[in-house]
Amino acid sequence: MTNVLITGGSGLIGRRLTTMLQQQGYRVGWLSRQAATTDGVRVFHWQPAAGQLDDAALLWADSLIHLAGETVAQRWSKSARQRILHSRLQSTHLLADRLAASGKRLQSVICASAIGFYGHRPQEVLTEENPPGQGFLAEVTTAWEATTNKLATATDHLAKVRIGVVLATAGGALPRMMTPVKWGLGASLGNGRQWMSWITIDDLCRLFVFILQKRLTGVYNGVAPTPVTNRDFTRMLARTLHRPLWLPAVPAPVLRLLLGEMSALLLDSARVLPKAALTAGFDFRYATPQAALEHLLADG
Ligand SMILES: NC(=O)c1ccc[n+]([C@@H]2O[C@H](COP(=O)([O-])OP(=O)(O)OC[C@H]3O[C@@H](n4cnc5c(N)ncnc54)[C@H](OP(=O)(O)O)[C@@H]3O)[C@@H](O)[C@H]2O)c1
Repeated sequence: MTNVLITGGSGLIGRRLTTMLQQQGYRVGWLSRQAATTDGVRVFHWQPAAGQLDDAALLWADSLIHLAGETVAQRWSKSARQRILHSRLQSTHLLADRLAASGKRLQSVICASAIGFYGHRPQEVLTEENPPGQGFLAEVTTAWEATTNKLATATDHLAKVRIGVVLATAGGALPRMMTPVKWGLGASLGNGRQWMSWITIDDLCRLFVFILQKRLTGVYNGVAPTPVTNRDFTRMLARTLHRPLWLPAVPAPVLRLLLGEMSALLLDSARVLPKAALTAGFDFRYATPQAALEHLLADG
């Protein structure tokens, strides 16, 4: 039986991935700052900011999935920016250094990244081959991906997943988009033409398991094959929830005023395709936004 150690396993993606791996016969451990012992999960502790890591975690692990990082869904104050960047770089350096010191080899290492890597690119269709764009998230993910390369000394199979907007009912962007629509206060954002590259949480976790099982290497865009504009997605969401959309769009300057630079999460446009995953033979279960919404919102 393979032992899979997940950093940030207690988060939105990590919890779903944990269940999926366990259902497929893997043993799962978490490397967490604070999680309590959880049923069926071996919990190890670390404090990346203090350079502390329980070496028993690395001894236990056969493979590693590195998701941990401070959330970007908060106002990007100076201190938040530092936490967002440093949490990712410090944790990755710590893993790489301890693995190197122990001489431990892992079957596979899969690291999260984000499509924020591509920046705001309204005119382009983006694949893994495109270079990074501009802006805070592009800077963070570029630095994070460069640091994850250090982990290549511990494995022959290092992969990175540039994750898009994860659609889940348990958290993330979708519940935040659903609330105003449910209250009849839904509206598209900015000019509504910005591309949103999304993926259901199930397909994203299936992609992680696929990469793990096939011991794939390289970069994979963790997005579905059909990005959608913000306006079309908002309309589909309202239709699926049987709610009217009657408000005009929320103007971009209002969002910038309310949210500061973090409004880039809502207004930046990135039309990203999962070229590498499709080439590797990955089969998306929810390939269109309508299928994804019907699946996710089936119970109301
Ligand atoms: N959800 C999305 O739409 C999306 C999109 C693109 C990229 N991603 C990336 O995918 C990864 C997982 O996403 P997620 O949605 O599951 O995130 P999440 O729910 O915020 O969970 C992230 C986990 O990372 C750990 N963490 C948080 N702050 C930390 C810090 N300052 N230092 C060290 N560890 C910290 C926490 O685990 P402990 O408390 O147990 O330590 C937390 O449970 C993140 O790196 C995220 O940026 C997510």
